[in-house]
Amino acid sequence: MIDWKTLPRPIVALAPMADMSDLPFCLICKEKGASLMFREMVSSEAVVRLNPKTLEMAQFDERERPVIQQIFGSDPHVMAEAARIIEEKFHPDGIDINMGCPVYNIVSNFNGAFLIKEPERASGIIRAIRAAVSIPVSVKTRLGWSKDTDVLEFVKVIENAGASLISVHGRTKEQGYRGVANWDRIGEARQRTTLPVLVNGDISTPEHAKEALARSGADGVLIGRGSLGNPWIFRRMEDWLLTGHDPGEPSLDERIETMRRHARYHATRYAPNGIIKLRKHLPWYVKGTALKHLKEGLVRVTTPEDLDRLLDVRQEAFGVDRDPVLPHLEVHMGSG
Ligand SMILES: Cc1cc2nc3c(=O)[nH]c(=O)nc-3n(C[C@H](O)[C@H](O)[C@H](O)COP(=O)(O)O)c2cc1C
Repeated sequence: MIDWKTLPRPIVALAPMADMSDLPFCLICKEKGASLMFREMVSSEAVVRLNPKTLEMAQFDERERPVIQQIFGSDPHVMAEAARIIEEKFHPDGIDINMGCPVYNIVSNFNGAFLIKEPERASGIIRAIRAAVSIPVSVKTRLGWSKDTDVLEFVKVIENAGASLISVHGRTKEQGYRGVANWDRIGEARQRTTLPVLVNGDISTPEHAKEALARSGADGVLIGRGSLGNPWIFRRMEDWLLTGHDPGEPSLDERIETMRRHARYHATRYAPNGIIKLRKHLPWYVKGTALKHLKEGLVRVTTPEDLDRLLDVRQEAFGVDRDPVLPHLEVHMGSG
């Protein structure tokens, strides 16, 4: 079982991202050096209705571990039951509660960041989930609803209710993604809790990770957008933080091989539309690189063969054979 207090520092983890931090992407991040995954949020209401699509989202491959499954909702009983079902069926290493999502559909249902305004409800949700599962329960939140100081009190609510880790995105709900993440404010929040804290927001290079940790005093970093098309960032950050050595950007060939691998995981997982569903990931792999001219083609691929053809043209220029081995998925399908 994961113990947030004793996990080696600094923690460098993949942030939960709806529609992005799914099984294939988490597996790719793990293969390239990520040590911990927060899986995309799932609806507690849908889990308790045993909605097949939602349950499928909570499946993972054993090689992804440690895996934390995030859930969202506003009813303590439903949240607790959803957490119990997820633990029983899939056995993730932890449950994370979404108390930071700013999206209208979420907050208008009193979920996500709305809970920052409702400390009693937030506390009730944490307590109910704690009582329902044996794995650690963590919370991901923002600096506040409109004031970037709400978090200073909110971390105490979270700690008193029995959570074991807090991740903070350094913006308010009203900011959305505007402005810059305030790592110093997360540092102030860190001073007010004995719980481990992960600093989140705008951390996309090894240097950012070092500065965010120095300014927040946090126990680790949570990386969202900076990991898209860039699963190597985890190892680069860990090496830089631990040894001062940055292994640097991957070669173009490594990028291409990783796209192919990601595509094969997608094709298997989401057949028959696996490659169409991959289109949202592909442009990130070539952004800002000598492969950026491939972007137009990448957002049109429909089959693994389309992608191979597109990448072969480029790879022939390198004279490198591509990996003929089809990677396997060992999906933990859940029991019961
Ligand atoms: C596409 C996308 C989906 C996201 N989905 C979730 C989610 O399911 N749960 C959550 O707590 N945060 C979600 N977030 C927020 C991220 O976890 C993170 O807090 C935010 O992107 C800031 O970190 P970054 O600057 O490293 O991206 C999402 C962000 C993005 C860009």
